[in-house]
Amino acid sequence: MKALILAGGAGTRLRPITHTRAKQLVPVANKPILYYGLEAIADAGIKQVGIVVGDTADEVMAAVGDGSEWGLVVTYLPQEAPLGLAHAVLIAREFLGQDDFVMYLGDNLLKQSLKDFVDRFEDDRLRARAPTLDAGHDSGPCAQILLKPVPDPHRFGVAELGADGSVIRLLEKPADPPSNLALVGVYLFDARIHDAVAAIEPSSRGELEITDAIQWLVDQGLRVRTEVLDGWWIDTGKLTPLLEANRLILETLERRVDGEVDGESDIDGRVVIEQGARVVRSRIRGPVVIGAGTTVADSFIGPFSAIGRRCVIDGSEVEHSVILDDCLVVGAGRLEDSLLGHHVEVKRSERRPKATRLMVGDHCSVDLQ
Ligand code: TTP
Repeated sequence: MKALILAGGAGTRLRPITHTRAKQLVPVANKPILYYGLEAIADAGIKQVGIVVGDTADEVMAAVGDGSEWGLVVTYLPQEAPLGLAHAVLIAREFLGQDDFVMYLGDNLLKQSLKDFVDRFEDDRLRARAPTLDAGHDSGPCAQILLKPVPDPHRFGVAELGADGSVIRLLEKPADPPSNLALVGVYLFDARIHDAVAAIEPSSRGELEITDAIQWLVDQGLRVRTEVLDGWWIDTGKLTPLLEANRLILETLERRVDGEVDGESDIDGRVVIEQGARVVRSRIRGPVVIGAGTTVADSFIGPFSAIGRRCVIDGSEVEHSVILDDCLVVGAGRLEDSLLGHHVEVKRSERRPKATRLMVGDHCSVDLQ
């Protein structure tokens, strides 16, 4: 079993962050999203990992290296343009060979362990190859998809299942979804997927869709195994789900205070304060993580906030927000549901006349009160 992680793509829905950075490397609870996927793959006992990379290849390669930190052996697979999830499989043909593989979307996060899904797929395949079957006949699944009921299925690939749980139809972002079962970004395939991705044509949005490739397998009479997820799953490619992922991961934090906290501060609940961080005359109400080298002074940091490294938060309130490294938030009032990139400054000045003075890049969003 190998793994194929998709870490290319355009990331248009997470602009402006993705103008300067790979969306798979945006931190959730101060750890890049992609690392959660790498950990899940390593936990599942998989060693050989191909990572599909696009415009942000250098950054992804710098962050993951040769994969040895996770006990993995990583091969980078450059994709010339984000031509679709099935296109990523197409360009990984040589790396994947005849092996079964997990395809993992690098911006997806899920609670349940990957190992169980892999084990059940492989067990089902082994059972189907039992000696009682006709020689040469393989009734085992050639693919496995994970599904999750969602309130807004039109934003996802959607599956229509028969009464026995078999796949009838798969549709990509349908205007009129036949069910509320969205395809989670973790798939299992055997080598027959290569025939499928070679056979399909680009969709109306110009991408080779993995849903079309899986539909092709179904149309050939091959078995596609389905499982409905119990735990949470988040496709972090937009602001709101990213903040939600941050909330869910922060909820699992173990309290650890390695930084300095003065006697006038109050630390409450699941809070991680990294070594080299300082908290002065402030209240921190967890779950919160504060990165190394950050100073929080005369401020309130409220639940579900992740503050990066080397930031200064002074005379401000922050809640339910993700702040990346090297930001300055001074006298900013209350920030909520916010995502700040690197080196962002939000500060209140005494200049007259009182006015909001902005210098914001392309595709930013500022909600004034
Ligand atoms: P998406 O989020 O579906 O696509 P995107 O990254 O282009 O984002 P947006 O729609 O906001 O422009 O991609 C899911 C994952 O797969 C993500 O980690 C990017 C990756 N990907 C590739 O590696 N190659 C591709 O051709 C595509 C479409 C996505």
